[in-house]
Amino acid sequence: MGIAIIFGANGGIGQEFVKQALERYAVVFACSRPKKATPDSSKLPDIKTLDNGLVKVELNPHDEEQLQRFAQHVREQYGHVDLIINAIGILHDSKELQPEKKIEDFNLDNFIEMMTVNASATALIAKHFIKLLKQSDAQPAILASLSARVGSISDNRLGGWYSYRASKAALNQIIKTLSIEVARRNKNTAVIALHPGTTDTKLSKPFQQNVKPGKLFSPEYSVRKLFEIIDNLFLEDNGKFFAWDGSTIEW
Ligand SMILES: NC(=O)c1ccc[n+]([C@@H]2O[C@H](COP(=O)([O-])OP(=O)(O)OC[C@H]3O[C@@H](n4cnc5c(N)ncnc54)[C@H](OP(=O)(O)O)[C@@H]3O)[C@@H](O)[C@H]2O)c1
Repeated sequence: MGIAIIFGANGGIGQEFVKQALERYAVVFACSRPKKATPDSSKLPDIKTLDNGLVKVELNPHDEEQLQRFAQHVREQYGHVDLIINAIGILHDSKELQPEKKIEDFNLDNFIEMMTVNASATALIAKHFIKLLKQSDAQPAILASLSARVGSISDNRLGGWYSYRASKAALNQIIKTLSIEVARRNKNTAVIALHPGTTDTKLSKPFQQNVKPGKLFSPEYSVRKLFEIIDNLFLEDNGKFFAWDGSTIEW
């Protein structure tokens, strides 16, 4: 029975991943942060099974106790996971966190927040789920994290966006390092980074005016293209960084 877990399931891309995963997997865990803070964190994660294989999970992906309890739940119920997607990410917020145009805009608190949200969540998820990543059919088990082309150091021609670029470069290094470890430990697992292309979500909204016509994708299109990669992934693809069109990006 195919089991998928989507983190960042309330985001523009994450929501669409949940929808399209339900067409492919028997059980889809849709994980997002709790809407409001709860005083009793021992009750978390909150796990609700809905129709058609959808399971809604409220957890904080940076709370290791919650991640560990969630992993334990999945282990007890199913014993394995076929696909994990991490669609968590931040580029700006409604307050002071904005991508830097110049070095004078650099702010340590914003840098730490971007690093925490964009890079560390994948490491924490991998830490608690690596032993569960086992394929249930011929395909490899997959851990895929949404990165961004701007995280590629070799592809950096425009500059700017120091913290976002650095956090996605850090994420890419975590993915690459993890791919080497899983090649040793989980013989049939592939760990990859994905660039969705500029996609019409809350994250890209303030930066859409300079996007060339036809290059702003709907979440439906981006995720359909990313699933074409995931559905056809081979074990040899472990450790690669794919763009939405199936081409590979240099780290
Ligand atoms: N959209 C694009 O053009 C584009 C391009 C390249 C790469 N990407 C990458 O694609 C991924 C998905 O982005 P999106 O466009 O779908 O953005 P989005 O609609 O803004 O969704 C962002 C997701 O990140 C989660 N998130 C934000 N801050 C968080 C925090 N502090 N702790 C935990 N979760 C947090 C949100 O969770 P809640 O729902 O719980 O708030 C939401 O699910 C990101 O990694 C982004 O960098 C997007």
